Amino acid sequence: MIVVRPAREADVPEVSRVLTDSIVELCSLDHGNDPAVIEVWTRNKSEDGVRAMLLNPANALLVATEGDVLLAVGCIVDGDSIGLNYVDPRHRFRGASSALLADMEARIKAAGHSAAQLTSTATARAFYLARGWQETDPGAPRTGYPMRKIFQVERSPRQARDPAAYRSRRSSGRT
Ligand SMILES: CC(C)(COP(=O)(O)OP(=O)(O)OC[C@H]1O[C@@H](n2cnc3c(N)ncnc32)[C@H](O)[C@@H]1OP(=O)(O)O)[C@@H](O)C(=O)NCCC(=O)NCCS
Repeated sequence: MIVVRPAREADVPEVSRVLTDSIVELCSLDHGNDPAVIEVWTRNKSEDGVRAMLLNPANALLVATEGDVLLAVGCIVDGDSIGLNYVDPRHRFRGASSALLADMEARIKAAGHSAAQLTSTATARAFYLARGWQETDPGAPRTGYPMRKIFQVERSPRQARDPAAYRSRRSSGRT
């Protein structure tokens, strides 16, 4: 079973490896195997860089695990932005990024945000589009794809039973 949990200090070396391998091996559509681009992209994914991410109070660094195996790494930044979502190439297409994304969305929603944002790679663009994310600036020249997901407002059981009555009460301004 895939479990998503906050990262801890002991995860730092493996988080660094997964982030780096994922970028190098899976994101060639984005970096074109250009060593200079890869170097800039992976620079802050060193163990020191990951430790800094972990200690930064603006970040919620998360890992998707199966038993002792770390499958994928995610990060929520400033409460409502997804800053990382990278799967270990050895565990691609086994549901890890899907589980991690669903968990990050749930955390953002639970914190009271009505929407979330991220900048997708070309590699993951279809993955996000298939999960309800929309591009916010589709025509712009870019190195990434800015996206946003607006969460559906949960309806109370009473609203769900009688949506028309709820609408008319809302429009009349009464509570
Ligand atoms: C594309 C990617 C995000 C999918 O994550 P995963 O953990 O491997 O896959 P999951 O099992 O959770 O989800 C499978 C989804 O991958 C996508 N997918 C399937 N084959 C694909 C392929 N050849 N190339 C790209 N995406 C593919 C589909 O959207 C699929 O969803 P579906 O099963 O509903 O059709 C991941 O494989 C990847 O390439 N990550 C690289 C890092 C990256 O770009 N991260 C995003 C940073 S913003």
